[in-house]
Amino acid sequence: MMQAVFAGKKIVVGVTGSIAAFKVAGWVSDLAKEEADVSVIMTQSGMEFVTPLTFAALSGRKVHSEMFGTEIDDPMAHINLGREADLILVAPASANTLAKLANGLADNLLCTTVLASRAQVLICPAMNSRMYSHPATKENIKRLKSLGYTVINPAIGLMACKEEGEGRLAEWDDVKEYVARALSVNDLRGTNVMISAGPTREPLDPARYLSNRSSGKMGYALARAAFRRGAHVTLVSGPTTLPCPVGVDRLQVQTADEMYNAVISHAAKNSIIIKAAAVADYKPAKNHEHKVKKDQIKSHLELEPNKDILLALGKMKKPGQILVGFAAESQNLRDEGVKKLKKKNLDIIAVNDISTKNTGFEVENNQVLLINKSGEEQLPFTSKLHTANLIWNDIVRLIPT
Ligand SMILES: Cc1cc2nc3c(=O)[nH]c(=O)nc-3n(C[C@H](O)[C@H](O)[C@H](O)COP(=O)(O)O)c2cc1C
Repeated sequence: MMQAVFAGKKIVVGVTGSIAAFKVAGWVSDLAKEEADVSVIMTQSGMEFVTPLTFAALSGRKVHSEMFGTEIDDPMAHINLGREADLILVAPASANTLAKLANGLADNLLCTTVLASRAQVLICPAMNSRMYSHPATKENIKRLKSLGYTVINPAIGLMACKEEGEGRLAEWDDVKEYVARALSVNDLRGTNVMISAGPTREPLDPARYLSNRSSGKMGYALARAAFRRGAHVTLVSGPTTLPCPVGVDRLQVQTADEMYNAVISHAAKNSIIIKAAAVADYKPAKNHEHKVKKDQIKSHLELEPNKDILLALGKMKKPGQILVGFAAESQNLRDEGVKKLKKKNLDIIAVNDISTKNTGFEVENNQVLLINKSGEEQLPFTSKLHTANLIWNDIVRLIPT
């Protein structure tokens, strides 16, 4: 999946004078393994930290650093590198280079290349936390964002200067998602989407709850795929062990009531809503304040129904808003799907087959029957991320133009 995003893409990596430069050697190595076509530009200070030989060996290409001189192969490299690039990744970006780029300075090969390019630019600042929090740096970052560059927030943690704070170079796993987004077709750019995922927990007492087998993997894959396609994603998640997907706003809830409140209060601002959560249909009629002793537990559990979130969303649906539901069925997939599509006023329903061990709950793969108002499509047995992209392909076709 990842391979298709990076393969053959021309990425210029700009390495500047930060102690974190050595980490970016690993990034270049990974991009080269993903078959991206990586050209590295180093500033003079960048070369004080890691030798150009390291980046040349990892990228398989000569490193660029000089603009002038008889030694250089291409005197127009400052124009050509940026013109041909699909993406420029400045990492690590020193405070000095941030200031230069924010002001359109062009006194070295990297800054000139950025100025002469119309490719997307991703910037990963890395510096001491006081340098990062200085108003001058903050202003420069604001300006870079207003120029249309994406600035990836640095991480918080212990730095080489033995100080702790914000300024550590962002982690590659996170940056790689931004790179993937920049290189993907952004057919959801500017679209607000909300996805619900995971199970809910309905408490009986402080120790016990009713829940279900949902792992949240399908909803999280939908969120990740939407981010890659350029959307602004709100993920309302029941309890799972999954990490929050990069670039996604996650609201964590426990109970069906909490999920109802979170989803309904955010519904109006989202033009696409996917309800992939497995919300408990019922909750215990009483949530005991203290743990119920074994000998006090009755043989019958009194339940009361939870509010139907999907039904409520279907009723309040605005014109043009797209509502997608999920159903987990072990038999009569088509009939059950069509019934739910109509009853809940959905545009699409994705019916999960939970009758086999390899699809549905907890596992990595899925096989979904997609039904919309004009027909149906049986998706192949494939990974949840691939399934998510196939579902998005279907949703994108319904977006009003
Ligand atoms: C040991 C050492 C580590 C440094 N680390 C950083 C850093 O992480 N971030 C930063 O902005 N500057 C750092 N600097 C300062 C920059 O290298 C300096 O501002 C330089 O002019 C940046 O030039 P450039 O932006 O052209 O690469 C460091 C300097 C030294 C001596």
